[in-house]
Amino acid sequence: MTTRLIGTTNHGFAQYAQEEIRRLVPGVKFQVLEPGEVFLIHTDVSIEEMQGALVGQEPIFLRHVQPVTQEMEIMRTRADLETLIAFVQGLSGVFAQGEKVAVQVRKAAGVKFEYTPYGVKEAIDPILMQEFGIEPVVRGEDRVISIYLGKEVLYWGVSRPQDNLSDWSGGAVRYKQEEGQVSRAKFKLLEAVERFGLDLSTYERALDIGAAPGGWSSLLLERGLEVTAVDPGDMHPELVHHPNLVHHKKNAAEVKFEEDAFDLLVCDMSWSPKQMSKLVADLLHTLKPAGTAIITVKLMHGKPFQTVKETMATFDGKLELIQAKQLFHNREELTLHLRKI
Ligand SMILES: C[S@@+](CC[C@H](N)C(=O)[O-])C[C@H]1O[C@@H](n2cnc3c(N)ncnc32)[C@H](O)[C@@H]1O
Repeated sequence: MTTRLIGTTNHGFAQYAQEEIRRLVPGVKFQVLEPGEVFLIHTDVSIEEMQGALVGQEPIFLRHVQPVTQEMEIMRTRADLETLIAFVQGLSGVFAQGEKVAVQVRKAAGVKFEYTPYGVKEAIDPILMQEFGIEPVVRGEDRVISIYLGKEVLYWGVSRPQDNLSDWSGGAVRYKQEEGQVSRAKFKLLEAVERFGLDLSTYERALDIGAAPGGWSSLLLERGLEVTAVDPGDMHPELVHHPNLVHHKKNAAEVKFEEDAFDLLVCDMSWSPKQMSKLVADLLHTLKPAGTAIITVKLMHGKPFQTVKETMATFDGKLELIQAKQLFHNREELTLHLRKI
């Protein structure tokens, strides 16, 4: 019996995720659903083993994974909804009374349907409630029904959100733009904080290298940290007079800080990873032992695994890598979660 899952990456990074999955589970086969980002994974390994492997050693570039237990041929007309409803009505022993279930539906990019992904959710939520007594939710679900609408096939699977690597549909993390938001870069740190399970209330003093215009600093300030920002560029006018912010309007190579002054170091310098890691390495004495570092690494020459290795080598054993992950809000980059040794 072949196990099938759908893997999703940021656009253009599918080949790296596939390389990582192949290393974890030899013999897997891939079939493209959307070039460069969505693909079917075929393997003889059981779904539980497969999920265990992917969660246990999470691939950097695999943003989301969902099991496929049912495939239905579709015509992309409203008749598909009737087929799906009949399938759902015929399910038995899948859901428990009162279980919180999120229906996450997405479709292949650029393919036209007579209905929307949301229309699919609207069609089956009432059936799930009536037939199985489940509670339909959008967040905080016990389990997820993941539906992917391909050009000719609908793929269905049910799983726990943690087995999908992300509880967002397809791993596409959507935050609401706030009024007066300093920069969209804030979302990148917000996603990192959630993805890496950081509790910002446990930190007191952060060093933000490459901080301007201040999206990351603004998040840290909102969460009650004292922030020291380093950037030759200007911080956003909203932040300039914040009582908990100190801005050194300088290159990171020109600043000096005391030993163990910070318990959090963040760096989002859009610069060559070699230069960035050297600058960070020279400032590591100021991060307390067991302090946390969150660093974005630009992927410049298409050798991401090598880039991570070289970056870690520059830190010269002073930082331990907890996780490297390409976040939804990372473009040509990935994010490192590190701990000071
Ligand atoms: C992508 S932006 C950072 C955005 C920021 N994280 C935010 O949330 O608004 C990169 C910043 O790195 C800064 N930068 C580049 N090289 C630097 C260096 N050597 N020292 C300090 N800052 C540097 C740039 O001036 C730029 O403001």
